[in-house]
Order: sequence, then C-alpha cells, then structure tokens
Amino acid sequence: MFRSTGPRLTVSLFPLLLPLFFMTALARAEVPLDPHIEALISRMTSEEKAGQLTILQDEFRNTPPGVNPEFKRRQISELLADVRAGKVGALFNGQGVTLGREAQRIAIEESRLKIPLLFGADVIHGFRTVFPIPLAEAASFEPELARRTARVAAIEATAAGIHWTFAPMVDIARDQRWGRVAEGAGEDVYLGKLFAAARVRGFQGDDLRAEDSLLATPKHFAAYGAVTGGMDYNTVEISQQTLREVHFPPFQAAFAAGALTAMSAFNDINGVPASGSYWLQTQVLRGEWNFRGFVVGDYTADLELIRHGYAANGSDAARIALAAGVDMSMHSGLYISELPKLVAAGELPMAVLDQAVRRVLYVKKALGLFENPYRSLDANREANQIGLPAHRDLAREAARKSVVLLRNERNLLPLDKAAHIALIGPLGDDRKNLFGPWTLFGLDENSVTLKQGLINAGVTRLSVEQGSEIETALEGGIEAAVAAAKNADVVVLALGEGERMSGEAQSRTSIEIPAPQQALAEAVAATGKPLVVLLSSGRALALKGALRDADAVVANWFLGGEAGNALADILLGTHSPSGRLPVSFPFESGQQPYFYNHRSTGRPVVPGETTEFKTQYREARNAALYSFGHGLTYTTFTYGEVTLSAPSLPWDGGLQVSARITNTGARDGEEVVQLYIRDRVASITRPVR
Ligand code: GLC
Repeated sequence: MFRSTGPRLTVSLFPLLLPLFFMTALARAEVPLDPHIEALISRMTSEEKAGQLTILQDEFRNTPPGVNPEFKRRQISELLADVRAGKVGALFNGQGVTLGREAQRIAIEESRLKIPLLFGADVIHGFRTVFPIPLAEAASFEPELARRTARVAAIEATAAGIHWTFAPMVDIARDQRWGRVAEGAGEDVYLGKLFAAARVRGFQGDDLRAEDSLLATPKHFAAYGAVTGGMDYNTVEISQQTLREVHFPPFQAAFAAGALTAMSAFNDINGVPASGSYWLQTQVLRGEWNFRGFVVGDYTADLELIRHGYAANGSDAARIALAAGVDMSMHSGLYISELPKLVAAGELPMAVLDQAVRRVLYVKKALGLFENPYRSLDANREANQIGLPAHRDLAREAARKSVVLLRNERNLLPLDKAAHIALIGPLGDDRKNLFGPWTLFGLDENSVTLKQGLINAGVTRLSVEQGSEIETALEGGIEAAVAAAKNADVVVLALGEGERMSGEAQSRTSIEIPAPQQALAEAVAATGKPLVVLLSSGRALALKGALRDADAVVANWFLGGEAGNALADILLGTHSPSGRLPVSFPFESGQQPYFYNHRSTGRPVVPGETTEFKTQYREARNAALYSFGHGLTYTTFTYGEVTLSAPSLPWDGGLQVSARITNTGARDGEEVVQLYIRDRVASITRPVR
C-alpha cells in the first residue's frame, strides 16, 4: 500500500495515479485486453490455465525420434486424455491432417472449455521439400530468397497440419566450433537482421489467419551463439555492449517483422539462465521492446534450471521460469504439475498465471484458431500442396545461390561436360548427408546426389569412387580412388562433414575435415590431376594441405534435396556461382572464435611494420584464409570510381555511395556489392570493419 512521507498533496493524488500506472504497464508491454479472452480466463481452473502453458511432443502424430533427448515419452491414450482434460494446449513435431483433425476435434468438442490446440514443429529449412541449411542460404546474400523458401516451407507445413515453426534461428555465431552455426545466418549482425526478418515474413505471410500462414519463433533468446568455447549449452559471459550490439538486433528485426512468439535459450548469461531471467524475458523483451506475444521455453529448459543450480526443485523451477516471462513450458510437464499447487499455496499470484495464459490465447486468436479450429487441417491442401515441382525448382535455385566458390586457379571451373570426370569422396554418391541437420520431414528418396546431378546434366564419362568414409578410412579406398584419378581428365573431390557433425550438441574441438578424408585428398592430389574440392559442412572450416591448395575449392554446405542438380549447374557452368561467405574460414581451428569485424587492439599487425609484439598467433595471423563476404564467380568485375553524396557521414544521417561496376569477363555473373565502414575514433573501440 502506498505510504507517503511527503506532503499531503502527494497522498491525495495517488488514487488517481493507480489506474494510469496499471494501464501504462499493461499498454506498454502486454497483449491488448480482449473481452472474449478475459471471459474465458475467468472460467478457467488453474489446471486448465497451466494446460494452456504446456506443449508436449506429439506422440499421436509420430514425432520423429532423435530430435531431442529422450524424456517422458507419453502413451497416446494418456496424451489424448490430457487434451480432453485441457491439460495440454499445444503439441509439437507431429504432422498429418487426419490425426491432426482428430486431436483438434477432441480439444474443441470433448474438453470443457473447447480451446483449440496449437501445433508446432521444427520446420527449419523446408518441410517435405528440403532447402539448403539456413547458413547456406545466408551465403546467397539474398534475403528475398530466404523469404521465398520460408514461404514454401510454410505452404507445405501448414498443408500437413502445422500452425507454428520454431524458426528462424537468429543466433549470431562467431565460433565455428559450435554445431548450431548451421541453423543461422552466420557471424554478421547486419546479414543476420536481414535474414531474420525475411524468414519471419516468409513463414507468416501477410495474414496470420490464412491457411498457409506459419507462426514464426525467433530463437534462442538470447546469446546462445556466444557459448564459451563454442561448446553447446555452455555458459555465456558477455557484456551488455556485445549483447545489445550483436545478439539482440536480429531478434528485434524478427519482432519488427511481426513474429509473435520467441523461444528462450538453454544457456545462462553471466550466471543467470536465460530461461529464468526476468531481466531478459520481461524487462528487455516486453519492457524495452514492447514484444506482444508469448515465449516458449526451449525443450525442458525450465526443468534445467535445477541442473544450472538456479532452482532447488521442479516447483522452484516452474515458479522462476513463469515469473521470468517464459509463458509456455516445452515438454517437461513442470507447469501442469507445479503451477496449480504454487497458486494454491499462495507462492505464485494468479495474475502471473493469467498474464501468460492471456498471451497464449491472444496468439491462438491471432491465428484464427477460435473461429477456424481446423485451420491448416485440410486434406485437399495436404494432397495438393506438398513437394510440388515448383517447390523443387526453388530448392534448386536456392542451392545454386548458396554455393560459394572460394578458389579457382587457372579458371579450372566450369568443367567441360565431355571431360572424363573422376568423382571421388564419401559425399559424391551419398544421399544421407545432403539435407543437413534439422530436417524432420524431408524424404531421402526424393533427393538428388552429386553423381545423379552430373548424369542428369549430361556427363557421360564419369568414374565414381568413395575413397573413404566420412570419419573413418575405407579398406582399399585410397588405392581405388588414385587409380580412378589417373584415368580421368579431372578429379572432383566431394568431401566434408556428415550431417550429424553439425547442428545441436555437435560442437567440435577442431573445424578441420576428418583425417581419413584429408589423407584421401593428399593421395589424389599427388596424381597431379586437375583437382576440384567440394566441401559439405554446417560451419566454416580450417582447410589444410591439398584441400587448401587445390586448383578449385567450393563451399557447398548442406544444399538440401536438389543438391546434386544445383552443384552440377555450377560445376558445368550453366550458372555462375554467386554465393559469398556468411562465416569466415580461418587459417587454423585454434583461432576460434574468429570473426571479420573484430576490434583492432592496440597492437594490430600493420602492413610494412614489424610483426613482432603484435596481435597474432605464432601459427596464424589475426585474419582469415577466406573472410566473411568472400566469393568468386566465373567472370570478373571492375569497380569504377567510387563517389560519395557528401564528404562526411553524420552519426545520425546517411550517405550515398555509388560506383560503376563492369563485367569485364566473357561470361554472365552476379556480383554482391559490399560496403564496409569503420569509425576510427570513438568513445568505445569499434570493429575494424
Ligand atoms: C531443441 C532445440 C530447439 C528446438 C526444440 C524443439 O532442443 O534447442 O531449437 O526448436 O528443442 O525440438
């Protein structure tokens, strides 16, 4: 209660200020009050409220295994009983219209309050039509492309009975040892912002109520990409400056593009777990950014507050997470088991529960689920809108635009399709590693291998040798590969990471290509044949020996279902490569974390000066073999004189920079014009670019 020690006047004004304060607080950071929702909340028991704040794996629709750690797998009958009892408000990672309709029917016909279910899933880079991994698409430097592929992913996922995707992943990743680099847009904040917004617009489309609108979820809030040592789930020690300049902006761009949910991160930030941080999930997200939607915790992230040493037990964890602003609990079941008891014991205000329920119901209503509970559960759309030829064409275009040509000595590429090509390596005729991590709903049999792509493109003289496994040697593999190389005009080495070497919980201590593949490359290179190296990966790589020195070197990431056709388009020159690196390829693994826009330090290496007592390693300079933004094409471009619209750039103003760019080569090509600026003297040291 207000206690005034000041003059009477203050006390007499207070009663007038209370409504203003309350409305300001609500208006500032909360979803609008809706009479229908308020009426519903007033009828809900605390258990039904906790149910709306609970999302569980969709055992009913066969959630694929291996996506998350095994935890509390539910019997289908038990899960449907929970739906009927209003104890679960959302299911994830199932798909299919028929069973989706049945689950929804139970929710809206057999439960007491008939609140529709929300179906979520990890639709990260395509649904049935699998696009390149997000890191690969970022290499296109074409956000519009990412919007288009996200749009197709939304059309297909909503046709299969999914309303909501746990994407885009917008974590800025500056340490390539981290396996989840693959899921984002790389090391640069500006590119990250553009791709975050483009993917949200693509997923959600223009109308959240439309059948094919897929609700987006920028994740993982926040600073998950800054885990110490690049080791997944590790602690994050970070300054406010870096949080706000590097890790927050892509989330802000995603919310500005209309995202209505966010997913909280596993990691702690300076000792406070993100999924238990009121400062992060409420003061920043709602207080500063006015985010209006709900936050879903990452998979059992609320329960993990105990392992963090931040909660004493499940009840403590549930209370801390909800009060922090994590509105929905993913798969731990903690909210349904603990929140009603906490409220009954007076340890959690009902208003806090109501606020989270209000947010969730607001989003369900924004999707039109109350008026149209069978939205996105249409058997006709499921039969006619998934895996269309136009979707595969887009996958091929996206894959082509994701390829980055790093090196092309003597213009070895493009190849003559009449040449005798020896296709060597574990990824030349491989179907299992084309999709990359986080493809739950793609079908292997639809994908095009590199071998098949070359054949489809008319290559008739093709020898294929595996040479080695991805992480182990192959008995006789190198000998057979060397023999094939000697008989061919040119060698294409298809090497790289397997898809299980990238993604969640796949941090590596070294970002080199596995040793057996390196040995294969050295043996094949020793034949002296012209050599093209193709590198599949979910991260930047440290290239050594023959992989670094080959005539031509290509970064082709994980390109999705049309990988083989797209690579053939590039290798044979029907399309010129146009990709640029979204992550820097260092000289050495040990340089991690390395990123191009690092600070100068007081002792940078300066051309022309001694390199003693400078910022570098004994084994490597503080630089990249191939920096962010690098990429070649099959022609050359020259830049004419650069002109500025003004002699200086005011800190809060703009400046037009223009130059004439000329294709001076003999082939068509795409150039990605890049402009970098630097503030040379500032009150806080600034990046070198
Ligand atoms: C995983 C990931 C998250 C994903 C979620 C559901 O642990 O961290 O990105 O969306 O769980 O599968």
